[in-house]
Amino acid sequence: MNTTGDFDFFSVSDADRLRAAAHAKFAAAEAIHIPDIAADTPLRPVNHVAVIGAGTMGVGISMSLANIGIPVTLIETSTEALDRGMQRARDNYATTVKRGKLSQEEMNQRLAQITGSVQMMDAKDADLVIEAVFEDMALKQSIFRQLDALCKPGSILASNTSGLDVDQIAAVTQRPQDVVGAHFFSPAHVMRLLEVVRCAHTAPDVIATLMALGHRMGKIAVLARIYPGFIGNALFRNYTREAHFLVEDGALPHEVDATLTKFGYAMGIFAVHDMAGNDVGYQTRKAQMATRPTDRRWNDLIMKLCDLGRLGQKSGQGWYRYEAGDRTPLRDPAIEQFITDESARMGLPRRTMTEVEIIKRCLYGMINEGAKLLAQGIALRPSDIDITYLTGYGFPAQHGGPMFIADRIGLAHVLADIERLHAEYGFWWQPAPLLQQLVREGKSFADLQA
Ligand SMILES: NC(=O)c1ccc[n+]([C@@H]2O[C@H](COP(=O)([O-])OP(=O)(O)OC[C@H]3O[C@@H](n4cnc5c(N)ncnc54)[C@H](O)[C@@H]3O)[C@@H](O)[C@H]2O)c1
Repeated sequence: MNTTGDFDFFSVSDADRLRAAAHAKFAAAEAIHIPDIAADTPLRPVNHVAVIGAGTMGVGISMSLANIGIPVTLIETSTEALDRGMQRARDNYATTVKRGKLSQEEMNQRLAQITGSVQMMDAKDADLVIEAVFEDMALKQSIFRQLDALCKPGSILASNTSGLDVDQIAAVTQRPQDVVGAHFFSPAHVMRLLEVVRCAHTAPDVIATLMALGHRMGKIAVLARIYPGFIGNALFRNYTREAHFLVEDGALPHEVDATLTKFGYAMGIFAVHDMAGNDVGYQTRKAQMATRPTDRRWNDLIMKLCDLGRLGQKSGQGWYRYEAGDRTPLRDPAIEQFITDESARMGLPRRTMTEVEIIKRCLYGMINEGAKLLAQGIALRPSDIDITYLTGYGFPAQHGGPMFIADRIGLAHVLADIERLHAEYGFWWQPAPLLQQLVREGKSFADLQA
């Protein structure tokens, strides 16, 4: 049953392309406005920032700040780790110089803004501290306890966590009003998206200051509330889950990826996994497996790939295989056989998947989740979800974002498909009540914008 009528996912008219571009522009401008925070809220000064952790994120965040002339104290646990981080900053800048986009003098000026330290005490006078240590609640809480004890009153204490509950981090301090999430994306000196995560007690001027800082850094700051994965990763979970289920149900990785690139993504999700490393999040996931609900289906195939040593490009094989020194994903009969065997082991009859089916399952899970986020106020408005996706997740620009394309398809069509998928696949496809309401009222996501 094709309930979306004749909607064409794979070609976009010039007029629709222009509308999508106008929507993206509107969404970028709109994101900064927070309904309950006055536009003239006095901002806290941000003249000196301390970044805790000189790993992938800490270095990129430090560079983003140095790029706009803000002095940074970059704090690590050891001189070795600090040296590695500083070297990464130098290497990143050197690449930009080599590309002719930065002069050597500018590179030196920017690097001079970043001072390394192995003393947490050196964060004490910072106006803003951004914590970017390992994704570990106990570690982050111990750091926030230290920061609470040593930072000057009024310092903003931010965590770059990808998904931990920032309220639980704020709770260990005596100043939860100063604690906020600042979710940068990797590489942080390149990626334009910044999710500002509002906690239960975050003061309005802290939000306003971070949103403005994001703007100063040339980023799009989007406000989110606490929710697993905030806005971006919450939708992304739905996207990857369905892509993986599609593979368990009969599609092969290259078929899903080809459909996604035909839709407009630069890369398919399985090629992305192989690039990022299939082991990203492996430990966390393994730890969660014992206690997660058993009433629903989980996509664990990626864990099995890791157990087989198929980590992706770095191990020469993952969802694809790779020739030495070449990042082109090549079909691998061995993994295709493994997937087929796994489907049989799980009792899933494999069947051919059409492109339309593939794209609907990858896209409609995101739309449904987006509606759930809107209903709970996790995202303020549909355009915030769209701009999150356009700037942080490589969503094809010509489609204007998941909520924008949902309106174009027609919410009644989208809901009919979600209901069909719910009947067929159960739990994960429970239709969002807001989506049902909009359809009942003959409205679109755009109608929620105001
Ligand atoms: N890598 C990503 O794509 C990404 C994207 C968004 C957010 N994040 C989040 O950013 C945070 C950092 O991730 P990452 O990828 O940069 O990790 P990473 O492993 O590259 O770096 C973490 C750094 O923190 C340092 N560190 C650990 N304990 C410390 C302490 N007590 N004091 C000072 N430094 C300490 C480590 O030595 C290490 O250099 C995590 O919370 C992660 O979830 C990561």
